[in-house]
This record gives sequence, structure tokens and C-alpha cells, in this order.
Amino acid sequence: MSDTDPELEARLAEADEFEPPEAFVEQANVVDPELYETFEENWPDCWERAAALLDWTEPYDEVLDDSNPPFYEWFTGGSLNASANCLDRHLEARGDEPAIEWVGEPTDEANRTYTYNDLHRRVNEFAAGLRELGVGEDDVVTMYMPMIPELPIAMLACARIGAPHSVVFAGFSADALATRMAAADSEYLVTADGYYRRGDPLDHFAKATEGLAEVPHETTTVVVDRLRERDGFGHDLGAGQYDWETLLTDHAGETVEPVARDAEDMLFLMYTSGTTGEPKGVKHTTGGYLSWVSWTAQAVLDVKPEDTYFCSADIGWITGHSYIVYGPLALGTTSVMYEGTPDYPDRDRLWEIVEDVEATQLYTAPTAIRAFMKWGTEYPDRHDLSSLRLLGTVGEPINPRAWKWYYTHVGDESCPVVDTWWQTETGGTMLTTLPGIGAMKPGAAGPPLPGVDAQVVDAEGEPVDAGEAGYLTLQKPWPGMLRTLYRNDERFVEEYWATYSDTDSDDPDDWVYFPEDGAKVDGDGYVTVLGRVDDVINVSGHRLGTMEIESAIVGVEGVAEAAVVGGAHDVKGEAVYAYVITEDGQTESEAFREEIVAAVEDAIGPIARPERVVFTPELPKTRSGKIMRRLLEDVANDAELGDTSTLRNPDVVEDIRDAVRGDDD
Ligand code: WTA
Repeated sequence: MSDTDPELEARLAEADEFEPPEAFVEQANVVDPELYETFEENWPDCWERAAALLDWTEPYDEVLDDSNPPFYEWFTGGSLNASANCLDRHLEARGDEPAIEWVGEPTDEANRTYTYNDLHRRVNEFAAGLRELGVGEDDVVTMYMPMIPELPIAMLACARIGAPHSVVFAGFSADALATRMAAADSEYLVTADGYYRRGDPLDHFAKATEGLAEVPHETTTVVVDRLRERDGFGHDLGAGQYDWETLLTDHAGETVEPVARDAEDMLFLMYTSGTTGEPKGVKHTTGGYLSWVSWTAQAVLDVKPEDTYFCSADIGWITGHSYIVYGPLALGTTSVMYEGTPDYPDRDRLWEIVEDVEATQLYTAPTAIRAFMKWGTEYPDRHDLSSLRLLGTVGEPINPRAWKWYYTHVGDESCPVVDTWWQTETGGTMLTTLPGIGAMKPGAAGPPLPGVDAQVVDAEGEPVDAGEAGYLTLQKPWPGMLRTLYRNDERFVEEYWATYSDTDSDDPDDWVYFPEDGAKVDGDGYVTVLGRVDDVINVSGHRLGTMEIESAIVGVEGVAEAAVVGGAHDVKGEAVYAYVITEDGQTESEAFREEIVAAVEDAIGPIARPERVVFTPELPKTRSGKIMRRLLEDVANDAELGDTSTLRNPDVVEDIRDAVRGDDD
């Protein structure tokens, strides 16, 4: 829909509430508004509805064991296998239907379609291959792979034999890979020779090799050949390194009995950024997680088996785990995977894919939507997007303007937009409107899902009034929750529970989960999430710990001290601002700036690249020596400065501001 008449545009700009489109409601998976009440009345048994979406090898005895909070256990006594739930049980009815529709970045390369039969076969062969390499139940297998079908195949093969996977985003650096493999004691790596980025083949294997060299134990590696054939990306495999295709051929046609896993057995680990420099290993389980993502994919994303569902996230992050792989495949639908970026070869690539595969849902990030908006309506207008039935966003707050742009120019005002709030730790969506039931309010994620008890509270844990800013809390456990931080129960309690819980109590009512987000709630119970309140910033929907970036910067010779904050950015949401004090004698040159930027890329990856590196003689500090980050954020945002009266060195903030503004000139 292009160039709408100005009157219509004006009406849209003013509207702050949108009813679900009627045609959508008529066919929606979930339409009963009583659901909120019945879930509340039947809590926690309401979650049987989620568990019932799965096939259980052994039925569970109890929905929730809350005898040892916050170490909750769900569906205890039950057992199941995630790969059997995502594959085997669909074969009879949907064996010849596509499970994964893969779109490579090069436009001259045909899509690869894996039917459920195909996927089942590949997963079995790779599971047999992993076993041959020595992978046993509970061995952590790391994946450092681009968006190629071998990634979900490897994940499901691990799930089949009960080996938890730990996927490390391919854009992360060699260092980041090594840290995560070491932290998980992971002896196995699945990686690829490379992938395409904006038309260029990228040598991923070199980065993986560099990372492996830093892992302090022996490793076994399987390498997928993504580029070699096409671009002559030959590489030699060393000792303990195996070629993916050869391994599969060696096990052609073999089947591996899915291992019955206890509901509480670990399905995977996912490392995410926290307040300290050390990433947190979030542990998800087989029964609770799979129930949660299946239920939310069905209720929120309205996934049906006959859909062609497209989530444009990367599987290296939780969104891809939950809503490209596990949720959609557990429901037996077709999940679309795209290797590349949305602007290659042109800015209409996503719309071209939607049109080509006739996608029924699109689930993407506000950052992408803001970029689309900037590029203009001509790109979506080039394509027939009428196959779309529902739109979703995740990862960061979406501003009402971007929401409305998405609703109008992508959804043609006929698709509900679900703004889903959740995090790596929650496993799946927690706050959002149910698209067949609730009115949508652009900017607000929505009410908590049925059975979810979210409250916005003040520093003392008391609920705040409607419209007031406070802290988001989850007052009751849920099946998809993380169970702990890998090998660090103490940090788990400290990070997520200690703030608002009575940690000496064994009464679950005394335990409150704190996601470390600020929020406000309106009179209808709709929650607007305002962003992180810890030292984590959200760049293009990716969580980055400021401490991790700072430690990379202070590692550069010539840097004395550094502070990193997020500054508002019109596309990325937030951008990295680094304030750096140099050592005496170090010149504050452009070359030195570049050295600092390169160090961050090496330690974490290009996503953490500082937008600005500001040299300053001092950092604003309280008398006790704590850096006042809020003030540095004010400077980054060119906002009015907050209270500087508690500073030991109040003048420095103005100096830094002058430096930043001066650089802009
Ligand atoms: C933010 C991504 C506002 C939030 C699934 C959260 C959001 C962090 C939204 C988790 C949303 C995610 N509105 N903020 N709809 N969704 N966030 O772990 O700050 O990568 O805590 O999980 O992203 O990021 P993570």
C-alpha cells in the first residue's frame, strides 16, 4: 500500500488502539477471551494445555514441583525427545511436506527444501555420526554456524541423542567462541567453511580455527562445506576434524532411536550477556521449554501445519532457537530460513522472499523495521505480500511510528502485529496481545499471556500506579523458564531472584523473577517495556554487556580506563558509545581509535563495534569512585544532564559533552 491519502495517514497517526482484523480472528488458533480467567483459576494445571501439544514417551506425574524455589521443576516424571516431537511424529501425515525452506543469500542459488522425511533422514544420519565421534548423552556440543540448514539438523541430532547443544552466533569472534566452549567444557564443535555476506564469501573456518586454538582441551570438529564447491574455499582438515558430508554418507540411511529424556533434562545451553564480563550459560530443559515454545508459537504466532512461517532472526540467538527451529517444527509447519541480509542484492530481498515462498507470517526485529521504514515503501510495494496473515516483532521496544509503518505497508492493515516481549531466559514469549483476542496498542507489548503473572513494581517491590515507570517482574514461574545458569546456581539466584525475593524462604510466593527491564503498565494492563536497567545494552536487538566491551577496550595497550554506555540510534535502537581515558604519552589519534574498535571486534564481534570512541581525561565518578553511567548516557543522547551534584568531578561531564559535540562538527 503506497502513497495513501493524507487523511488516512492522519487517522492512522492518531490511532492508539487497533482491533484484531476480523478475517484473522475467524481463523485464529486461539480466540476465547475466557482463557485468561481459566488459566488463572487453574494455575499451574493450565500448563497441561501446553504439554498436551507434545508426544510424551512417559507421561508426567506432576505439572509443577515448587518445593525448592527458585529451582522449579516442570512436568516431573515425564520423559520425551525433542527431535521425535519435531520430526518423527509428523512423518505419517506430513512426511512429504516441507519442514525447512532454506533461501541462500546468492540469488543464483536455488532454495533448498527439506521435507519432514528429508530432515528426519539427515538428522538421523548426523546423530549416528555424532555417536561415532564419541558424543554421549549430556555431552555439550557447540555449534558455530551461519544460517544454513545444517545448523537445525545438528541441533535436532543432538536433541535426538540427548546431547545438549550450545549455539554460538556466527558473528561472534574467535575469542567469544573459545570462552563459551571452555565455560561449557564442550569437546565438540560443528562449524562451516564459510557463508555469504552481501555477495562475498566469508571465511568462517579461519575464525573457528583461531577460536579452537584457544580452547584449553582437546576438541573434535565437524565442518560443513558451504562454500568450497562454489568459491574454491579449500581448507585442510586437521587431526580430529571431519567433513560433514563424508560423515553423513558413512551413515547413510541409518536410524537412531530417539533417547527418552527426562522432562527436566537439559535440551540446550545458550550463552547471553550479563552485568559482568562473563557470559551466562542459560540452561533450558526438554519438557518445559518445548511445551512453552510450541504453545506460544501456536497461540501468539498462530502457527498452523499448513503455514509457511518466516522468522528472519538468526538461529544463533534465542529467537531462532524457539521460533525458527523448536516451536514451528514441533507444530509440524514449514519454517523458512534465510542466510543473508535484508538488503542484498537490494533492499527488497525480504519482500521478495515473502512473495516467493508465500509466507503466512513474518516475525522480525524493530531494528529491521526501522531500516525498512528509512529505505521507503517502494521496496515492499514492489511485491505481492498478500500471503501474510500475521506480523510479529521481538528483541527491543518498537516505537509506535515503526509499528504503524509495519502494520500499514507490510501488513496492509489486515494483519495483526504481535509485539512480543521475552528474553533468552524466559525461553519464549511472555507479554504480548493474543492476536485473535486482544486489541493492539502500538508501543506496548501487551498484557501478560494467560497464566503469566507480570507486575511493574517500584524499588521496594510494590506495584506502581498505571502510567508510572517501574521494574518489570514475573511473580510466578512458568514452564519455559531457565532452570539455572550452567554450573552456577548461585549466580542464577543472585542475578534473577535476589532483588525482589526473600531468598531464605522456601515458599514460592516469596520468590519473584526480575528480568532487569524497566516498564510501565496502563489501566488496561498493557505493559510497555522501557529497556534494560542493568549494564546491558541492546544494539539491533542483540544483547551486549557493557562490561564485556569495556574489558576488551582496557586490554588495548595505551588505554587506562574505559566506560561503555548505549546511546540512542535511529535504526539500531542503541549504539555503543565508548569513553576512553588514555595512558600518559598515548596519542589520541584516529589510528588509536581504530585500534580500539578492532579490539572490540576481536573480543566480541562486529555487532559490538563502538559507534563512537570519545577520548576524555576523566570519567564522571561519585565520591565512592563509581562511574555515573546515566550521565554518560545523557551525553551520548545529547539529552539534558541529570543530577551532577553527587559527582566528585562535576565539571568533567560538560567537558565530555563538548568533546562529543566537537567530534560531530
Ligand atoms: C528486550 C530476545 C521491548 C528486553 C528475545 C529483554 C524487548 C531483552 C522486547 C532480551 C519487546 C525483547 N519490547 N523490549 N518486545 N523483546 N526485549 O535475551 O530488554 O536477546 O530483556 O532475547 O530484549 O534479549 P534476548
